[in-house]
Parts: sequence; structure tokens; C-alpha cells
Amino acid sequence: MEILVTGGAGYVGSHACKALANAGYTPLVVDNLSRGNTHAVKWGSLYEGDLRDTAFLDKIFRDHDIQAVLHFAADSNVAESVVDPSKYYKNNVAGSINLVESALNNRCDKVIFSSTCQVYGTPNKLPIVEDDPKLPVNPYGHGKLLVERMLRDCDEAHGLRSVSLRYFNAAGADPQGDLGEEHHQESRLIPLVLRVAAGIREAVEVYGSDYPTQDGTAIRDYVHVTDLVDAHVAALKHLEAGGETTALNIGTGRGYSVKEVIDTARTVTGRTIRTNIAPRRPGDLPELVANCERAARVLDWQPSVVAIEDIVETAWRWQCRAQ
Ligand SMILES: NC(=O)c1ccc[n+]([C@@H]2O[C@H](COP(=O)([O-])OP(=O)(O)OC[C@H]3O[C@@H](n4cnc5c(N)ncnc54)[C@H](O)[C@@H]3O)[C@@H](O)[C@H]2O)c1
Repeated sequence: MEILVTGGAGYVGSHACKALANAGYTPLVVDNLSRGNTHAVKWGSLYEGDLRDTAFLDKIFRDHDIQAVLHFAADSNVAESVVDPSKYYKNNVAGSINLVESALNNRCDKVIFSSTCQVYGTPNKLPIVEDDPKLPVNPYGHGKLLVERMLRDCDEAHGLRSVSLRYFNAAGADPQGDLGEEHHQESRLIPLVLRVAAGIREAVEVYGSDYPTQDGTAIRDYVHVTDLVDAHVAALKHLEAGGETTALNIGTGRGYSVKEVIDTARTVTGRTIRTNIAPRRPGDLPELVANCERAARVLDWQPSVVAIEDIVETAWRWQCRAQ
């Protein structure tokens, strides 16, 4: 069964291809390689191209018998979205509109969409449940919420069923060492911290030490990438079994502060990790932690890795291998 994986040369998408192949599916990767790596496409074939190119997408759908789409392709740097919003609306929203139109034109009626906890904005209580208010505070979150809305409307209008998975923070690497997080320009905490541990960077910036949290640094819920991609396979099976369009939080229900993550990395690596305290970044929030009971109920999914030590350990093994 052929599954289109947009952004399959990127971090989460490449791990998803492995999970799909292990579950008996054939992944077809579409990626413009703006952030992804050709060598990360180890399961299925790579079609290099852009979601904003309608003719390119239509040809892929026409040439294959695509049963469903796993839609990862997007730009995903919150701070960049604040300073360059049109880039985010053009890529993440317009790209998704093209993709959905191509899918509909070619009778593909199932989509799993990579949404984000950024759709909630500043939560009024923790942990966050799916029905909590959705008031994004940055263009990245606004764009993802718009795509979720479009997908629901396309179910009403055309019967296109979808699962929007609202990831909290994806982290870690493939435990077999086949894949990991690998970006030319890294913006995410754990890979940056591990680059400092590996001696590739001098220090890591800690953005904000005056948040209303126990140690003043921002708290995030880190979900291991292999658990996250298992949730995608479960979501695909949910749609195949006739399940309804829905949106689900994917996290662990446990938050760690930036300081706790750095201290954990010091313990796991046994290395010195220098930090520079910097001001808060625009668009960043103090604390985001998921309630994942709905995903447990609908997908029979639960994270298998919850301890931050275990998550950092897989990422460190990848970092050491990648050098
Ligand atoms: N990593 C996280 O913590 C996290 C959290 C919440 C949501 N998400 C979402 O999950 C998805 C995957 O995230 P990731 O961490 O793997 O990101 P990533 O940057 O590693 O992967 C995205 C991939 O999409 C490709 N791409 C971007 N725009 C494209 C376009 N127009 N056409 C074709 N390919 C394009 C990039 O080259 C890259 O390979 C994204 O949609 C992101 O917004 C990620």
C-alpha cells in the first residue's frame, strides 16, 4: 500500500518512513530538501520537489496508487515565523492547500497532519486537553490551526478524513541508530545542547530565565520520535478502519524545563555544557504539557519512553555516530 510522506527527508518524516515500512506500507517521499537530507530517505523512494508545485504533486498522485498522505512538510521555527510570517503562511498553509487539492483530485481521502501544541497559545490550565481554547500567539501556530480547520471542512464537503496530531516537542533518535535529528541550521534545544557536549559549539543559548516556572526556564513536554511515529501508524489504521476525523495531543504528560534538559545532558554525556542566558524569544510560551488521554482512547497509543534521560541518551548516541 503506497503512502505519500511529505517532508519524509526531515527529522520526524524519515523516522515515519521506517515505521511505515515495518508496518508493511510503501512510503513515497516528497521533499524539497530545504531542511531534509537525501541520505535520510532509507525506506521508499524520494521525489524531490515542492508542495507549492501543483503539477509536480498531481503527477505523483497520477503515477501511483496513493492510499493516504502523512503530511510532515513545513517550516517549523516559531521565532522565525514571528519575523517572517509570510514565509510560514506560503509554505505551511498554501503548500497544504495544494496537497489537499491534489489528494482530492486523485481520490485519496485520508490525511495524517503534523500539527502542533502551538495551536493552543497560552494555556489557561495544564495539562492541555484538545478542547481547550485555541488562541495561537505566533504565525506558525496560526498556520497549523488554519490547516486543521481546512481539513475538517474538507471532511464535511468531500469526505476527506484526517487525523491532526498535535505534537508537543519531538526528540530523541532511532534506537537502532539508523536515523536522528540532523539539520544544517539547528534551532532545537536537545540537538543544540548535544553539539555543545560534542565540542562542535561553544555554548547553548537559554532563551528566558524569568518565566513563571520553578527554575525560570521554559517547560516543554518531550515525546520520543519513535513513539511519535508509532502514533502516525496508529492514526493511519484508525482511518483505514473507518475512524472519524479528529485532532489528538501527542506528548508524554510530563514537562521538563530547559535547565533540567541541560542538566540531564550533562549527566548522560559526562561532558561540560556551557550556557548563555539570553532574553525570551518572541512567540515562545512558558509551559506546554499535554494530556494524551484522547490519543490513548482513540488510537490505543501511549508513549513507551517518558524519562528525559532515555530520550537524551538516544539523541546522544546519534550525535556521537554522526560525527
Ligand atoms: N519536531 C518537533 O518538535 C515538532 C513539533 C510540533 C510539530 N512539528 C511538525 O512536524 C513536522 C515535521 O517536523 P520535523 O521536526 O521533522 O521538521 P523537519 O524540518 O526536519 O522536516 C520537514 C521536512 O519538510 C521539508 N519541506 C519543507 N517545506 C517543504 C515544501 N514546501 N515542499 C516539500 N518539502 C518541504 C523539509 O525539507 C524537511 O525535510 C512539521 O510539520 C512540524 O511543523 C514538529
